[in-house]
Amino acid sequence: MPGASFHATRPLSGVPTIPVGVIGYGWIGRAHSVAMNRLRDATWPPNVLPRLVAICGRNEEKVGAAAQRWGYEGYYTDWHDLVTDPDIQAVIVGAQAYLHREPSLAALAAGKHVLCEKPLAPDLPEARQMRDAARQSRTLAMTGFSYRFVPALKLMRDIVHSGALGPISLFRGHYLNESRRDPLLPAFGDAPEVRGRGPLNDVGSHLIDIARFLLGDIAAVSGKVLTHLTPRPSPTRPGEMVDVPQEDTFHGVVDFAGGTTGIIEGSAVATGRKNWFSVEVNGVQGTVRFNLERLNELEVYLLDGAQPEAMGFRDILVTESSHPYLRYWWPKGHVVGWEATLVNEVHHFLSCIQGGRALAPEGATFEDGYQAALVAEALRRSSRDGCRVEVSSLERG
Ligand SMILES: NC(=O)c1ccc[n+]([C@@H]2O[C@H](COP(=O)([O-])OP(=O)(O)OC[C@H]3O[C@@H](n4cnc5c(N)ncnc54)[C@H](O)[C@@H]3O)[C@@H](O)[C@H]2O)c1
Repeated sequence: MPGASFHATRPLSGVPTIPVGVIGYGWIGRAHSVAMNRLRDATWPPNVLPRLVAICGRNEEKVGAAAQRWGYEGYYTDWHDLVTDPDIQAVIVGAQAYLHREPSLAALAAGKHVLCEKPLAPDLPEARQMRDAARQSRTLAMTGFSYRFVPALKLMRDIVHSGALGPISLFRGHYLNESRRDPLLPAFGDAPEVRGRGPLNDVGSHLIDIARFLLGDIAAVSGKVLTHLTPRPSPTRPGEMVDVPQEDTFHGVVDFAGGTTGIIEGSAVATGRKNWFSVEVNGVQGTVRFNLERLNELEVYLLDGAQPEAMGFRDILVTESSHPYLRYWWPKGHVVGWEATLVNEVHHFLSCIQGGRALAPEGATFEDGYQAALVAEALRRSSRDGCRVEVSSLERG
């Protein structure tokens, strides 16, 4: 028997809900599921909430456990059934790149909104097909370039776009990790599931997107893709070593359509680097610099009239609640983590659906996913042919 002052909680009513289905319960499927579970609290009072209708995976036992863990109403073992479920309005495609195109196209054709993980596709022709389908569709098609929703990177963009840095002279971006450093890790092999693997698609797509997010379209590329650790053990034939066709490192010079030059590099064999995603923009009047391993910080240097001896980089803690991505989180100084970017991303996706708003410029569209694939392919061709490649030359084939 409850005490006299007990009152039953009023159920939450009047909040629009979007019925969602998710394909994949691995790393990013988990991140999206956790993010959707966080939305009610993180955006209180919520303007929109997901209804977790179903999650999909091939292994019934595991996907059933995933549905229990994150509170889905049910689960599917065949993604075709999820994308045609009449109850589902929005689909999150969280499988590996080889399985982005087919479910995304089927979901768009069935009139669903789609948030597809990055890279949009394993290669340029598939990315183009997806972009073309999104152009024909009346529903929203978002690419999961989640780093656009890191508060410090949004602030970086605002500073670059404000003109405070003056004319921009240089962009520099690195995305380095050591995920393939161990030479005894098996090669990816040639199974369909690993098509398009390698750091240029994997971390490079994030880097290219943030370069475009900050400074606009990329017009031309020259660079190299390299495979240092080859051969590797065969993934299927014990004791055998096989050549590795995928790159483990890339670097390039990019010419932005606006005239700025940029340098990009990425590696999966950068010993000691865990998730070193660092970008810097230099202007005549100032510089801004960000590193994902210091997610809440932005380094800023501005020629703002101070005494030369008193000048230097300022380390800004990006936690003010006036920031659009921080108003829902903690009091200033109480930092957020990587998962907050997924909450911000999913909130943007659902809010745009609910409000009938466009995803851009904050969110990445399928066009942005396609543009990242174009730049990656231009870099591959440049490496192969030893020349600078105009991105527009790849627009049709
Ligand atoms: N935004 C980010 O920062 C970020 C971070 C990690 C991964 N990703 C992207 O997310 C995607 C998935 O990566 P991951 O690390 O989560 O992979 P993962 O291997 O951990 O998970 C992939 C999931 O897809 C499911 N799947 C595969 N084939 C399927 C099929 N035929 N039917 C149903 N389900 C199927 C698998 O069962 C698994 O649950 C990749 O494109 C990756 O680049 C993005």
